[in-house]
Amino acid sequence: MNLQLNGKRALITGGSRGIGKAIAYSLASEGAKVAICSRNEKDIATVANTLSKATSSTVYGVKADMGDLNSIEELFSKTRTNLGGIDILVNNAARVSVGTTPDSLLEVTDELLRYDFETKMLGYVRAAREAAHEMIQNRWGRIINISGMAGSAISAGMRNIALVSLTKSLSEELGPYGITTNAILPGFVATEDRKVRLEFLSAKTGIAPEILESETANSTSLKRIVTSKEIASVVAYLCSPLAQSITGEALSVGGGGNRTIPY
Ligand SMILES: NC(=O)c1ccc[n+]([C@@H]2O[C@H](COP(=O)([O-])OP(=O)(O)OC[C@H]3O[C@@H](n4cnc5c(N)ncnc54)[C@H](OP(=O)(O)O)[C@@H]3O)[C@@H](O)[C@H]2O)c1
Repeated sequence: MNLQLNGKRALITGGSRGIGKAIAYSLASEGAKVAICSRNEKDIATVANTLSKATSSTVYGVKADMGDLNSIEELFSKTRTNLGGIDILVNNAARVSVGTTPDSLLEVTDELLRYDFETKMLGYVRAAREAAHEMIQNRWGRIINISGMAGSAISAGMRNIALVSLTKSLSEELGPYGITTNAILPGFVATEDRKVRLEFLSAKTGIAPEILESETANSTSLKRIVTSKEIASVVAYLCSPLAQSITGEALSVGGGGNRTIPY
């Protein structure tokens, strides 16, 4: 199937590794011109270069912090200069919740709450607002919010629910201009740092990482852990003109059976 993404201009926040990198590869492979960002200048330049060579498409790497308004404005300005505009925004940059940071009521710190608010809530809203001006003028656009299913964690749960609500609001406000907005809810994804996250959970629970991994896989309908490439394929379809009729949705992409947040 031709996803008709050739020549579309896409900004993916947080593309130096993990899900964002897989999305960047997927969109660039479909012929989109892509910009990615991370807080680490060297990493993002290296990954942009690698992806550009692998896909024979434009992949532009920018240092940016999605928790900082000035940095976001600079990212959009540089992206517009380099790609000529933005048709697709994938809000992705944030910390992974499960297996990284203590996040129960008795453990959660104000620092974590503030970080999640600044990056994954305010950061996503600010980026959508930056992108929307141009998309409204063009009467076309795609906004994808990478949320998550961590419903039982305090900070991650609040941010994930907030993003589902944000997605719905944006879909209603921007829909009349041909702009669709959807959220993706990954479960536990097999990214580069999955071992580190399993070891963190193992230290916390006393359960061996291999057992945690197989329990996670068995909690899904497919009995396996979803890959970042699989998340990226769904995102690429939602970015396509072919997906014009899908908006305001929060789509679980976790192999089934592991939805944990109500919506
Ligand atoms: N992996 C999972 O199992 C899983 C499950 C559910 C939801 N998610 C969500 O999926 C998204 C991606 O997760 P992932 O697993 O791909 O994470 P990851 O492997 O840690 O990658 C995160 C990417 O975002 C960048 N980033 C993080 N904070 C940033 C900031 N403030 N400004 C700019 N860039 C930033 C990172 O680069 P720097 O650190 O160099 O800035 C990196 O490129 C996140 O929103 C996460 O919550 C992941």
